[in-house]
Amino acid sequence: MVLFLAGLVPGGVMAEAKGTGPEASSAAIGDPEGTGESPYPPEVQVCLGCHTVDKEGARGPKAAPPLWGVVGREPTPEGVATERWGRASLDRWLTNPRSVAPETRSRFPGYADPERREKVLRFLESQQ
Ligand code: HEC
Repeated sequence: MVLFLAGLVPGGVMAEAKGTGPEASSAAIGDPEGTGESPYPPEVQVCLGCHTVDKEGARGPKAAPPLWGVVGREPTPEGVATERWGRASLDRWLTNPRSVAPETRSRFPGYADPERREKVLRFLESQQ
């Protein structure tokens, strides 16, 4: 009797079914073709939750201003004390947007790591 009941517990089957097959949510951000490989560096993928980065914001409107051509452009957030975005001012923004514009709507906390900021800066410079 004990042996018979033990045979009814399908633990083995359940364990095997777990973790198999691709998960629907695993598609990379900024990967419209769904290849699983984003064309953007990971540091930039973070931005895509709020911004578009391609020409004319072609991927559709988001809450944040489009980043195409931002280098050399007039800042849109209130209170940014610079006439045009350049390397130094963008680097400060990417370190901590609030340190540049205390009232900013951006909830991006910034990158403390200069290497990550450098990767983002190079990317932004290429989007012209
Ligand atoms: C949580 C959403 C969010 C994320 C993530 C985010 N941003 Fe932003 N960003 C904003 C918003 C909102 C604004 C507009 C702020 C304002 O007007 O006060 C903004 C503004 C900016 C601006 C100024 C643009 C202009 O038109 O002058 C730059 C540059 C910028 N973000 C770069 C980035 C980069 C690069 C990343 C990724 C490393 C990033 N942001 C991540 C929300 C975000």
